[in-house]
Amino acid sequence: MFDSISHTNLLVVIAGGLLLYTLGSRRKNRLPPGPRGLPIIGNAHQMPTELPWRVLSEWSKKYGEIMHIDIVGRPLIVISSSKAATDLLDKRSAIYSDRPHSVMAHLIGYDETLALLPYNDNWRKQRRLIAQDFAPSNTPRYYSLQEKEARILVRNILKDPSSLFSEVKMRIGTIIIRVVYGYYIQSTDDPILTIPLTAMENFSYATAAGNFMVDFVPAMRYLPRWAPGAGFLKITKKFRATFLKAASGPYEWCKDNLETGMTLMPNLCGTILQESNGELSKDAQEKLMWASSSVMGGGLDTSMSSALTFFVAMIRYPEIQAKAQAELDAVVGQDRLPAISDLVNLPYIRAIISEVFRSSPSIPLCIPHAVRQDDIYNDYLIPKGALILPNIWHMLHDPELYPNPMEFIPERFNGSDVEMDKVKDLMFGFGRRVCPGRYFAEGTLFAIIATTLATCKILPALDANGKELIPEFAYTSGTITFPKPFTLRLKPRSAQAAAMLAEVSSAIE
Ligand code: HEM
Repeated sequence: MFDSISHTNLLVVIAGGLLLYTLGSRRKNRLPPGPRGLPIIGNAHQMPTELPWRVLSEWSKKYGEIMHIDIVGRPLIVISSSKAATDLLDKRSAIYSDRPHSVMAHLIGYDETLALLPYNDNWRKQRRLIAQDFAPSNTPRYYSLQEKEARILVRNILKDPSSLFSEVKMRIGTIIIRVVYGYYIQSTDDPILTIPLTAMENFSYATAAGNFMVDFVPAMRYLPRWAPGAGFLKITKKFRATFLKAASGPYEWCKDNLETGMTLMPNLCGTILQESNGELSKDAQEKLMWASSSVMGGGLDTSMSSALTFFVAMIRYPEIQAKAQAELDAVVGQDRLPAISDLVNLPYIRAIISEVFRSSPSIPLCIPHAVRQDDIYNDYLIPKGALILPNIWHMLHDPELYPNPMEFIPERFNGSDVEMDKVKDLMFGFGRRVCPGRYFAEGTLFAIIATTLATCKILPALDANGKELIPEFAYTSGTITFPKPFTLRLKPRSAQAAAMLAEVSSAIE
């Protein structure tokens, strides 16, 4: 952690810092503005770890849409306007699609997977595998699974509202593992689910900006294991073992069970393996395994975060809930459960989903990009190798574009899909790295949101004295942000709604 720089790692920091500082100082004058730092360590001591997007948002009000921060000589460029993000990450995507090299990510092996791979041929191949399977034309084949899991989710939360967080994780995890590997999770302690979940927790910790000094002073990786400050080496070893198991376990299961018929089709890996008639090279199989593991990494926590934000919003705004239910009653009626194909006819529900995305983007600072070569933007130098952090949270809380940005107001879009799309165009990232799971994610969220609203009243939990507990919009820090724990009550809107949920089969399919 940064707090510990001045104690354990001071010498290494100074040595690494001096080198980078000397190399970087020639260019300093033309860099974008930013907070004044200290010699050598730059702004490292000021980098916020608590909700950093909020602090960077405040800084950008002073320094502008392109801000330079110096972390021990490593330039970090924060982009705080959608125009600059589009100009650079979309329009100049040929040079802005790299990922920064992270020693921690490399030691653990995360940079083998699509999301963190450098912009190279391996990335292109993995990306093609995922983009194809989750293209808008392909996602409808998974609708019935998404609808079914959303219904089981609501049924289970109705039974036990305290299971909200674990159920949301379980159901979204079940959807992803089913569509990627053809395996249907049936219990929360299934290692096919729990090992990837642990790997994801590790990932979040290992990649959160500022958690490991070695990312700023790469020479630290050569420290002997016993040296002060080398504790990260033990962590990388442990995280790597879990990570490998998380990627290979479900992949091998899928492959082994194609012949036994237990692998449920269609699914991403099974389809590709089957189409290759057993002739997929070792290298191609490895790419498929890593690309597949990115789906869990990219899709679970992000979707879970948005689903939980929805529940907080509905508890806080019962009038929005009532309006959405009126729309559902008018369009879907009360004799059946909503289907994903209803989405086109439900503009208010679409506005709620967009407002969930706007108010609390799950990856508020995006996954950092890196720039391949020196670039000039508005007369400022963006130096080769700089880490590029688009502050999506800030862009979606610009009061000029979104008045009262901290309020949850689906009406702000005036029912315009063009305005709603502007939110999604930021929330899912940029350029060639834009989220390939966007349409699939929207399907899962719509199924959860529409099914809950159609069948239940979402109410605040009560304390021991019967007083309502209204949750705040309070979020965790980290690459992916979540609502902090909260409780709720669900009540069926009618006996018919409860009966329709009870009838949903939980059979393997
Ligand atoms: C609410 C849900 C989701 C949100 C908010 C979200 C957001 C994002 C963002 C911001 C990025 C980084 C884009 C960039 O670097 O510019 C990303 C990348 C990625 N997402 Fe998603 N995502 C979601 C769901 C999913 C799902 C369901 C999948 C599964 C298919 C997925 C797979 C990925 C992958 C593989 C990447 C890395 C792409 C690359 O580096 O080329 N995401 N996502």
